[in-house]
Amino acid sequence: MTSPTDCYAVFGKPINHSKSPRIHQLFAGQTGQSIAYGAQEVSAEQFKNSAKAFFANGGKGLNCTVPLKELAWSFADRRTERAKLSKAVNTLALQTDGAVLGDNTDGCGLIRDLITNHAISLTGTRILILGAGGASRGIIAPILEQSPGALCIVNRTAEKAVNLASEFGSMGPITGCGFESLKSLQFDLIINATSASLSDQLPPLTEDLLALNGICYDLAYANKPTTFVQWGMDNRALKSLDGLGMLVEQAAEAFFIWRGIRPKTQAVIDLLNSERCL
Ligand code: ATR
Repeated sequence: MTSPTDCYAVFGKPINHSKSPRIHQLFAGQTGQSIAYGAQEVSAEQFKNSAKAFFANGGKGLNCTVPLKELAWSFADRRTERAKLSKAVNTLALQTDGAVLGDNTDGCGLIRDLITNHAISLTGTRILILGAGGASRGIIAPILEQSPGALCIVNRTAEKAVNLASEFGSMGPITGCGFESLKSLQFDLIINATSASLSDQLPPLTEDLLALNGICYDLAYANKPTTFVQWGMDNRALKSLDGLGMLVEQAAEAFFIWRGIRPKTQAVIDLLNSERCL
C-alpha cells in the first residue's frame, strides 16, 4: 500500500518566482516524506475563502507570503507565542483537533542563518534594523533573545520606529528613530527589513554607519546582489548577505512543524546558491 500524500502550498501575490515548492520538495526527498507542495496566486481579497477551501479539501498546511501574513494571523484559530509577538503568520498548520495553528518562522529562520550558517554571534553587538513594517516586527523578538548590546530600529517615518521600539521595550535594549538621528552612530550588524530592495532602492545610509568588520544582511534575496547587499560590499562589510539562507531556514522550520522532522538545510542552500545566475 502506498502512503497517502499530504498536501501543502504557498499562497501569495505575486507567487510565480517562489522558491518554496522547490525547497519543500527537496526537504521531502531528503527526509523520505510523501508530500505535495504547490504555489497558488492568492490576493488579499481572496485569501480567507481560498484558505478555507484549501483546508476543507484536505490540505494540511500553508505558507503565506506577501501580502497575506497579517490576514493569515487573523485566520488562525490558535497562534504560537512568536506569532502573537510578530502579529504576522507565515505558516498555518492543521491540528489533529481540526483547528488551524498560526506560527511565524521568519525570525527563527534569520537567527539560524546568522548564527548556525554564518557563525555570526549577536550577543553584545550593536544591531541596526532598517524599516519598521511587518518584516521588521517579525525579527525583533528573536534578535532581542540573543542579548545584543543595543538594537536600533530606524525608519523613513520615524514615528513608526519609535512606536515599534516601545512595544518591544520590555524585552531588551531597543530604541527607534529616523535616519537623521543615525549621525555618528556605528553598528556591527545592519539588517535591511525595508521593502526598498524590491524596487532597487536604498534607504539613506551614511558611509561610516557600518563598524569595522561589520556585517550587512538583506531580508530580501535576488539572483544578483540587492542594492543593500551591494552597499555593504562597497562599504567594506566583512560579509554582505541576502535572505536566501533565511528563506531556506524558515521553510525548514515550517516543514518541522508540519512533519515533525527537521530537514538538513546546508545542501539546499548550496544548491539554490549554485543556481543563481550571478
Ligand atoms: P513589510 O511587511 O515587507 O515590512 P511594509 O509593512 O509595507 O512591508 O513596510 C515596508 C517598510 O519599508 C517600511 O518601514 C517603509 O518605510 P515607511 O514606513 O517610512 O514607509 C520601508 N521602505 C519602503 N521603501 C523604502 C525606501 N525607498 N527607503 C526607505 N524605507 C523604505
